[in-house]
Parts: sequence; C-alpha cells; structure tokens
Amino acid sequence: MDISRDQIKEAVIAAGSDNEEFFHFPVVEEGLYLQQDPDEYADFVHFMATELPPSKFALDIGVASGGQTKFLRDYYNIEKTVVLDIGQHPNFKHWDRIKKSVNTNIVLELIMDSHSKEARKALLPYQGQFDFTFIDGDHSYKGLMQDIELAKEVVKKGCIFVFHDTGAVPDCVRVFKELQKDPDFEMLANFDTRFGISVFRYLAVNGPKTGLRKTISKLFS
Ligand SMILES: C[S@@+](CC[C@H](N)C(=O)[O-])C[C@H]1O[C@@H](n2cnc3c(N)ncnc32)[C@H](O)[C@@H]1O
Repeated sequence: MDISRDQIKEAVIAAGSDNEEFFHFPVVEEGLYLQQDPDEYADFVHFMATELPPSKFALDIGVASGGQTKFLRDYYNIEKTVVLDIGQHPNFKHWDRIKKSVNTNIVLELIMDSHSKEARKALLPYQGQFDFTFIDGDHSYKGLMQDIELAKEVVKKGCIFVFHDTGAVPDCVRVFKELQKDPDFEMLANFDTRFGISVFRYLAVNGPKTGLRKTISKLFS
C-alpha cells in the first residue's frame, strides 16, 4: 500500500481516541475510540501494511470499541475475522456502529470471557485456520497467558501474534520477556514509543510443551 507512516498517524488522530487526557489526542464523537499511541500505532500499522503479507483469517481478543479492529483493516488486508471480547468496556457500546464499517468478513462475534469453556468450544471448529491474532484483552499475567494458550490451540503454523502493552503493563512486560526466550516464537518487530506493540511469528502448532507452554501448563494443573 502506497501510504506513508505520517499519513497513517494523521488518520489515527482523525479517528479519535478513547480518552484525550490519557491517549493525548481528542475523542471524536462518531469516531473509533482508539486506545493507542498515535506514533507507536502508526509505526505498527505501516509495518503491517508494507512488510507482511495479507491475512486470510484473524482472531482479535479484546476489542473494546472495535476501533483498532477497524483501523488496522483499512490498511492491512484481512479477509475474515473472529472477535472475542467480554463486552464490559464502557466504549464497547460503539462496536455495533463501528463493526458495520470494518473492512473484513466478521464470521463470528464472541461476546464472552475469553477464558471460558464456551469461548474455547466456539473457536475449536476454526482450529488450524487463523494466520493473525491481535491479543489485547485481560492484562494480567495469568489472563494473558491463557489467551496466548487459547490462540495457540487454534492458529496455523506461522501465525502472526500481536500483543499490546508489552512495554507498559508490568504483567504484559513479563509475558513479553518470556516470549522473547520462547523457541516457539520469533519476534518480527517491536514498537515501544509508549505502550508497546510486539509482533511475533508462531513457529509451532500443538507441538511439544517447551518453554512458555510448560509454564502455562503448570498454571492450569
Ligand atoms: C485495552 S482494551 C482493548 C483495546 C483495543 N484493542 C484497542 O486497541 O482500542 C481491553 C479489552 O479486553 C476486554 N477483556 C478484558 N478481559 C477479557 C476477558 N477475560 N475476555 C474477553 N475480553 C476481555 C475488555 O473488556 C476490553 O474491551
């Protein structure tokens, strides 16, 4: 796509934030309610648009308003998408409006706890199909690890995993550091102007329980 990183940054700001005081750009009434840093997110979106092949099938865990789900797909082609969110964020109310303009085929909306048995059961039929996942739901160490484990069960080999807040929320930083040492993950890019957006490639699928997988197995045992 022939668009500069600075043009993307302008579009982020025009789309509007979730909270001006916290995100440092204005809220737009009929906007996207993005929970992103404009510089960091523009770097990430530009990287996706210019460096990685398009996605056929994505899983977004933790969408809030869905603004990020929409914005990314305006620049990075994603054919089909499943969204999973507990639906409790104050700006989740915008999802009904925003989802109509998302440039993807939304094949399933799971409005439930990503850690529930129901969420796993609903995702299992798609096992081996997802080639992209954006994980920004529960920000606790255990909760994020559970989301990673859930995603690992249903993605295909080589799937792109994106994590948010890997430079800002201590539990997410901890997971990020562990992922960097995990032989099942290869870090492709890291954008850390403010919150941290980290892009990994998952190299295994349902493989032996090594490294991080051992840790998460212990958490569940
Ligand atoms: C930080 S917000 C997501 C922001 C969004 N990705 C963006 O960039 O604008 C986190 C979202 O995850 C949801 N969430 C938190 N814990 C969850 C869980 N256990 N299952 C599903 N969704 C969860 C919250 O309700 C919220 O909508």
